[in-house]
Amino acid sequence: MPAAVIIDTDPGLDDALALFLACASPELDIVGVTTVAGNLALSRTTANALKLLHHLGRDEVPVIAGCERPLRREGFDVADIHGEDGLGGALLPSPDRQPHPVHAVRWLAHELHQRSVHSLHLLALGPLTNVAHLIESRPDAAKRLGGIIAMGGAVREAGNVTKFAEFNIATDPEAANVVFGWQIPVTLVPLDVTRKVLASREWNATLLGRGGKIARTANGLIEAYLRNLVARRAAKEGSPQTLEPKFPMHDPCVVLHAIDPSLFRAESLALRVITDGSERDGATVIDRYAENRIEVLTQVDGDRALALILERLTALP
Ligand code: BDR
Ligand code: CA
Repeated sequence: MPAAVIIDTDPGLDDALALFLACASPELDIVGVTTVAGNLALSRTTANALKLLHHLGRDEVPVIAGCERPLRREGFDVADIHGEDGLGGALLPSPDRQPHPVHAVRWLAHELHQRSVHSLHLLALGPLTNVAHLIESRPDAAKRLGGIIAMGGAVREAGNVTKFAEFNIATDPEAANVVFGWQIPVTLVPLDVTRKVLASREWNATLLGRGGKIARTANGLIEAYLRNLVARRAAKEGSPQTLEPKFPMHDPCVVLHAIDPSLFRAESLALRVITDGSERDGATVIDRYAENRIEVLTQVDGDRALALILERLTALP
């Protein structure tokens, strides 16, 4: 039986690849896609989710818009590495349909009560705002989740938005603390592993050579990221580049863990997110006094992970 999952996302280039990978994986039954503000404003992440599912021929999967801003603070504007539209300029047509007409948190609560307890899992690819909101406003429903696999954090690694913090956690640190401190099993997929699943231009060329329409789109998304990365580095360093640009498979790692956890090693850690507005705001730190432990992925077999992504994406039409 495929596992029933809801994908909570803010597409986003790597979110798009994660959606492709999930749709290519018979181990998963995608019950719905909830959207959150993160890489871009909510209206854009929702429109992108609709376009991506349409492109995949999966218009039957409901798309439900969630929170427009972080739990207790203002959002910040980040349209950069994902391009203005969040899909690196990929010209994907919009479907006729609209998002489901209720708020994602309400829809999640309803869905959780409809299904048997602990049978539904959440794959969280963006800031944890929707999940924290569900926990705070509908704990009765949140308790019914089987677990959450969430991309976020940098445990023994430098951050990617600041020296200390990773984007998804830094965007809504209070939400992350709510989720990490609660009673649902959480598996965190931090930069410590996602930075080890790196697609090179050569890998991307193989994807294009072996695959069909979806692989072609995925190839374009990766290429857009690599171009932005090169431009960013050039602007920063103002000098010619020597480092080969690579695409970190942040969000696809969440899906990989859902379909083949043997790719990863995990540690049980008590994590706390810094929310004090200092330069370390948004950092995920190990707190040996915190009571609640979560599962944190700390190692990955990068080659095997990339091979599985390639196999799955090239099997799509
Ligand atoms: C995370 O931040 C976003 O930009 C990506 O989509 C991913 O979810 C990586 O830090
Ligand atoms: Ca994301």
